[in-house]
Amino acid sequence: MNILIIGSGGREYAIGLRLKEDKNVTNIYFSPGNGATQKIGKNIITKDFNELAKFAKDSNISLTIVGPENALSAGVVDIFKELGLNIFGPSKAAARLESSKAYMKEFLAKNSIRTARFINTNSQDEADKFIETLGQTVVVKADGLCAGKGVIIATNHEEAKEAVRDMLSGDSFGEAGKRVVVEEFLDGFELSFFAICDGDSFVSLPVAQDHKRLLDNDKGPNTGGMGAYAPSPLASKELIARVEEEVVKPTLIGMKNENAPFCGVLFVGLMVVNDTPYVLEFNVRFGDPECEVLMPLIDGNLSQILLDAATGKLNQIKLRDEFAVGVVMSSKNYPYSSTPKAKITVENVPVGSYIDYAGVSSENGEIYADGGRVLVAVGKGKSIKEAQIKAYELIENIKFEGSHYRKDIAYQALK
Ligand code: AMP
Ligand code: GLY
Repeated sequence: MNILIIGSGGREYAIGLRLKEDKNVTNIYFSPGNGATQKIGKNIITKDFNELAKFAKDSNISLTIVGPENALSAGVVDIFKELGLNIFGPSKAAARLESSKAYMKEFLAKNSIRTARFINTNSQDEADKFIETLGQTVVVKADGLCAGKGVIIATNHEEAKEAVRDMLSGDSFGEAGKRVVVEEFLDGFELSFFAICDGDSFVSLPVAQDHKRLLDNDKGPNTGGMGAYAPSPLASKELIARVEEEVVKPTLIGMKNENAPFCGVLFVGLMVVNDTPYVLEFNVRFGDPECEVLMPLIDGNLSQILLDAATGKLNQIKLRDEFAVGVVMSSKNYPYSSTPKAKITVENVPVGSYIDYAGVSSENGEIYADGGRVLVAVGKGKSIKEAQIKAYELIENIKFEGSHYRKDIAYQALK
């Protein structure tokens, strides 16, 4: 079958690379793709999603897979379905679980799913009163999509009220901040839980852990994620069973009740406090860099699994008895500003490791770092330690001007 992957990051590269293992996959297209995806498929640029859907129809695409949230919240799935095309991802209505934090929190409350105590408001007065009922540390979130930047962790009430003021005035996040969620601070550890869903049923993937901060020991600013590993030993069998029963199942039932059945990847951002899972957020797509460590762990025919999910016929899946660690290499100025182009050289790719390319372009057959998160070095192994060693062995072989990476990815699993 022919496959179209929407997106341009390491996540989409990883999906493409994994799909190349499937014998039934003939052509892979990326839209827009990056400078390296054109080595595993073909990049397609179109004016909009209507034109892309027409391309899919004309090119006999059997399955489209959507990577990023902005395409989902713009309604790409609805546009493709209108033309009778198979597409893996939630509708615009279901994507609100990610695109509106206020909607997500109200949904959790309505369906009795455990989350931080919160208020969803556009009134400074209401926010201030609620802040007074919380401990010193308070979390303030802009309602809309802010590319992971719309969350402020305030260390005292004055700072929290100020953050609300900045958001409601439109100064800090424009329209996305004109409604805010204020919530209690949860002190625990974070996990990324993924379920592939077909509207009715789901299968869980290995539980991953991301590393959001720029620097070692979780210091520095928040980023899109500097590395991930899976499966995490921090997710016990009991915890996984609880997340399935207490979060994923009621979410699928709840979304059906909202007339927005959830099809695609449900990514539950969890905070585990005293062995109890709280939902911090939902995302409606694979995480990046989590996807890069999940892809090598899924056994069998992935294109068929995703097609079955897209058409409401999901079956059980098999997982590989392995571990994966992914270390992000970013450009010098990430996450603050852009960085000039730099040529990437790769001396050797040791057995058991490989590269997923993200922020790169290509010129005369060479790959250039374009800024942001440039690539993910993935190592696989029979243990997390082995996978981690492989990932860092690979990193030693990759050079580009101004490269930065964390040296402690998977540390929580190895403590
Ligand atoms: P979100 O976009 O909602 O996942 O928030 C981004 C990051 O902020 C999360 O990955 C957490 O590290 C942190 N965070 C968000 N909400 C809370 C909370 N209620 N308590 C503690 N940390 C939080
Ligand atoms: N790595 C977290 C995310 O993709 O949102």
